[in-house]
Amino acid sequence: MPTHSEIQTLLAEIEQNNPQTAPELEQFRLDYIGSKGKLKALFEVLKTLPPDEKKTFGANVNQVKQAAEQKYQQLKEQLSEVVDNTAAPADLTMPAQTTRLGSRHPISLFLHRAVSIFRSIGFQIADGPEIEDDWHNFTALNTPEDHPSRDMQDTFYIQTNPAVLLRTHTSPVQARYMKKNQPPIRIIVPGRVYRNETISARSHCQFHQIEGLYVAENVSLADLKQTILYFARQMFNKDVQIRLRPSFFPFTEPSLEADVTCFICHAKGCPVCKYSGWVEILGAGMVDPNVLENCGIDSQKYTGFAFGMGIERTTMQIYGIKDIRLLYENDARFLRQFAGSL
Ligand code: PHE
Repeated sequence: MPTHSEIQTLLAEIEQNNPQTAPELEQFRLDYIGSKGKLKALFEVLKTLPPDEKKTFGANVNQVKQAAEQKYQQLKEQLSEVVDNTAAPADLTMPAQTTRLGSRHPISLFLHRAVSIFRSIGFQIADGPEIEDDWHNFTALNTPEDHPSRDMQDTFYIQTNPAVLLRTHTSPVQARYMKKNQPPIRIIVPGRVYRNETISARSHCQFHQIEGLYVAENVSLADLKQTILYFARQMFNKDVQIRLRPSFFPFTEPSLEADVTCFICHAKGCPVCKYSGWVEILGAGMVDPNVLENCGIDSQKYTGFAFGMGIERTTMQIYGIKDIRLLYENDARFLRQFAGSL
């Protein structure tokens, strides 16, 4: 059994042990307080003693234990306050580390630019929900249920309520706006749309459009043509020409698609325009009188034009982006390249 003097020696040893660094302090803890330390060994002895000896011996060992733990705590606090003097002093002449700023996404760059051009000629921004109902997305736009023209735009439905769907185009906002406002109406609607399409380098189940709608007295196809031309010259370059081709949309009559002379090769022929000299930018037409009537607007008094422009394809052509999926991956190395353009 350790004698009284041995315990005193241990106490003295602890008092004289002065760790200076964190590893030394850890060794101190292991030597005395840890589960394999000297104090633990003394407590093991304590268990084996007869009751009359246990009392004094126990009191002594506890005293040593308290001393060890107190010292450990003190040293720990002191060490955490010590500044590490061995580290190299800060070099105050080094250039400051700047925070890297984010940049606008190419889709946003295109949208912002296009929106500001339309605003400059009197269009106001309107907005609508991406989760739409069947009536606004199709029926109001002269596309009744079971009509074959619905096949042009398949989307995602909710099984338990097929009247709710993800909008396939920004055109439902035309209907929403006309229900609430009488002409003159001159709006643009930038936004995200959805289609049930297989994702590939060329197509995605989500993309962006800008819708335009102008309804007033005496609006004609000439106004539509001039608006497209003005937009194309501001957006791409001042020399572009436009070409209107007959097309079909259920909600416009007549309908057309508009091309611009290739802004990459200036219509000389290149891979972007597939050597045709032309790049398609939008679908458009005169608002079908049925659509005006469905939305409470007098089709005898008013006429209008509408257009819908896809953003991704044209953005990809401008920047030479070969795969649409790059636009949705949020890879900073890709996105950084467009900072400050457009
Ligand atoms: N909504 C049509 C589409 O997504 C485009 C369009 C809009 C056509 C307005 C005519 C008028 O394909």
